Amino acid sequence: MNNRSELAPGNAQPVIETRGLTKVYDSSSASAPAVNRVDLKVRSGEFVAIMGASGSGKSTLLYLIAGLATPTSGEVLINGVPISSLPDAARAHLRNTRIGFVFQRFNLLGFLSAKNNIESPRLLGWRQERPPRSVDDLLAAVGLEKKNLRRVNELSAGEQQRVAIARALINNPDILLADEPTGNLDSKNAAAVLDLILRLKSDLGLTTLMVTHNPDVALRADRVVEMKDGMILRELTPDQMASAAGGSILRVAGHSPR
Ligand SMILES: Nc1ncnc2c1ncn2[C@@H]1O[C@H](COP(=O)(O)OP(=O)(O)OP(=O)(O)O)[C@@H](O)[C@H]1O
Ligand SMILES: [Mg+2]
Repeated sequence: MNNRSELAPGNAQPVIETRGLTKVYDSSSASAPAVNRVDLKVRSGEFVAIMGASGSGKSTLLYLIAGLATPTSGEVLINGVPISSLPDAARAHLRNTRIGFVFQRFNLLGFLSAKNNIESPRLLGWRQERPPRSVDDLLAAVGLEKKNLRRVNELSAGEQQRVAIARALINNPDILLADEPTGNLDSKNAAAVLDLILRLKSDLGLTTLMVTHNPDVALRADRVVEMKDGMILRELTPDQMASAAGGSILRVAGHSPR
């Protein structure tokens, strides 16, 4: 997977860091924070799986890191820069160019073609130093070159998720955030989409944070972060994951009803 020396303490600055990150959706009620004082560091090239029961704050954490939601307190740093310190336009540019986001429910424009969907983030600009990827290369990478002109609402769920992955990568991001990207797929499509993400992650050197309830995904991650009630309950190393395989830890860490 990645170069373990990168994970050595004191080495390179994390690509993603959260400090005391907290989100309270409804401050008028006594409801508990959706994300509660989360401190997380993800280093370059790492693949971190986030697990936890429904409602434990996994999606909210991803939205906060992507700048799609605003923290109530605490901060998100991308390469050491607090995103809250950036002017709105710079934050939007960072979100559009540095971070690819794959939503659980695809969030595609159903009446547009696969190709138009994949190209859409380009309309909001890109980075000079990392020009956009070729849409044809991405269509080939996700195996949809023959369906490029199909409207996405005429594609299968697995195909739509592959369009969404290609769209997340068009602006050549270095960070990929994926919120249960296989959650709405049958097991065959889920395995194909997972393989695709892992291959693209290696090929493109992406730092990847993936919410998943699938223990098989977690076993292929560098690290598993388990959330409970908005907080990080524990982190598992690959060795702990391996010894937990077939055991209880990953089932506990997996997606279970509240
Ligand atoms: N837009 C919102 N407004 C108010 N409360 C919200 C909103 N989104 C999420 N919540 C609440 O915040 C908490 C965390 O939700 P979140 O969607 O982050 O959980 P999750 O771990 O992703 O759950 P799931 O596994 O079901 O997707 C839940 O209690 C949820 O009801
Ligand atoms: Mg969620």
